[in-house]
Formats: sequence, C-alpha cells, structure tokens
Amino acid sequence: MYDDFISFADLTRGEIEELLSLADDLKKRRKNGELYQPLRGKTIGMLFEKPSLRTRVTFETGIYQLGGHAVFMEMRLGERETVPDIARNLERWVDGIVARTHSHDSVLELAAHGAAPVINALTDLLHPCQILADAMTLREKRGSLEGLHVAFVGDGNNVFASWAELAACVPIKLTLVCPKGYELKGPVHERAKELAGDRYGVTQDLESGVRGADVVYTDVWTSMGQEAENTKRQKAFRPYQVNRRVMELAGRDALFMHCLPAHRGEEVTDDVIESEQSIVFDEAENRLHAQKSVLVWALT
Ligand code: CP
Ligand code: NVA
Repeated sequence: MYDDFISFADLTRGEIEELLSLADDLKKRRKNGELYQPLRGKTIGMLFEKPSLRTRVTFETGIYQLGGHAVFMEMRLGERETVPDIARNLERWVDGIVARTHSHDSVLELAAHGAAPVINALTDLLHPCQILADAMTLREKRGSLEGLHVAFVGDGNNVFASWAELAACVPIKLTLVCPKGYELKGPVHERAKELAGDRYGVTQDLESGVRGADVVYTDVWTSMGQEAENTKRQKAFRPYQVNRRVMELAGRDALFMHCLPAHRGEEVTDDVIESEQSIVFDEAENRLHAQKSVLVWALT
C-alpha cells in the first residue's frame, strides 16, 4: 500500500494493529541480525522545521536498515518557496516524505500537492509516530492495550492529542490531568469524546486522575514553538509535577512514560524517571521499530 501516515484518525483499529504487529516483527528480525531491505532503491526526504534527537535518528537509521536512503533537510516551510511547490518538486525525486512542522496544515498540504506518501514526524497538533511506539512498548510490557488506563499528567498538547486519537480507535482509558486552560480543544478532542465516550476524560484533580492508573505519562510543559509562554506555563503546571507521591497514588505496578526530551525537576523528578517503574528508554528504542513499520506500510 502507498499511503500517508498523518493521523490515527485516518486508520482503522485493524490497521493500527497491523502496524504494531509489523513493528514487533521488524524488531525481531533486527534482533536476529536478519537483513531485510524492502526500501532498497528508495529515497526518503526528511523535512524538519524543529529540532529532534529521537525522531531524526530513528528515521534515518530505520531507512538505512530497510535498504533506503534518507535526505535530511532543515528548513522553514513556505519561507523560500510555497509548501505546494516544495511538494511538487520532491515528488519528482523521492519516494516518501517524513515531515516535522510547526503548522499541521503544512503536512496536510505536502500530502495534498505531491504524490509522495507523507509521514507525520510531529506537528503542533499531533505526534502519531511517538504514540505508535508507546503503544508497541505497552503491548510488550502488559501483553495488550485493551483496558489499560493511561493518565496523561500535563499539557493537552500534540502528544496528548495523538493519545486521544488512539483512544478513539483502541479500547484504552485515557485521562488528561491538567490545570485549567490547558485542556485539549477542537476537533481531535470532540472526536475522542464522541468515539471513546466514558473511556476519555479530563480533570484538574491530580489525585483522582492518577489513582490506580496503569500508566502515568507526561511531557514537557512548554512545547517547541511555545517558548514565549514558558514563565506562565511553569507556574501553571508546577502543581502537576510527576513525583514519587504521584506515582504512589497510581500504585506500585504503574509504569512511568515520557516521550522525551525530559526537563528533569519540572514535569518529572529524577527519582521517578530513574525508577524501576520508568520505561522511557524502551519507548525511545521502539521509535526505531515502530517507524520502520510505518515506512514499510506506507512505501512498499
Ligand atoms: N520524542 C521525540 O519526538 O523526540 P525528538 O523531539 O528528539 O525527536
Ligand atoms: N510536546 C513536545 C514533544 C516533543 C517530542 C513538543 O512538541 O515540543
């Protein structure tokens, strides 16, 4: 299939499960030292408007392992030429585009104006590659996603929005625990409310929000592009730090997750991120396998 990977809302539950199984399979092949190169002869353009460690390295490494070639471009879309013109150039040369942009519309425009499949590597609205890797990690740790309660403590941001899209499709319970004014709003929220029903909730009450959760997840309080709001955000989110007390409310078996990079001492304390309950580097590892799955799915 040749397809875009922009949002979980474009996929069925079956397709998400297919991607997760393929990711497991690709991880096994890699661990067994098997050479598997379905992208041989293919070139993937990587357009990044924002910094990245995990996403850039895992895509470039994954493309190489699958036999393809990655061309990395750091640029502000629309500055030197329009997004449609970029798409109409790239489609003549490359077989796929991985894009990390500020505006979500830029990724949609790249997909609409060019024939090359577009993979969303984070926008201001969504981060589906991250949540695919997180779902893979939870399946490894807990066997299945079904019925798991994920308490997302922090900003109703792009990472949370992709969790909300997953919850609209896969039967997990998702609670956003955040200060007033930082809830997810707009169509992604409305759709999750409609499709996930009472499996999806928002609360300002930290204690009831995390009590008994299977997973406590957090992310930075100030996302890339929001730096001007940092002082205000630090103040608003301070009571929502994930520390030992929060993990105790969730329970001894609860897992701690974070997409990284972490601002230790802000959204999470050192003792939590370094604890036995923390699986943050397993999540980071699985970015590689999950994105290889997306590449194979979208490009072969
Ligand atoms: N989690 C994540 O996407 O990390 P990077 O911003 O470093 O790519
Ligand atoms: N919400 C963060 C995620 C970084 C991976 C950001 O957009 O900066």
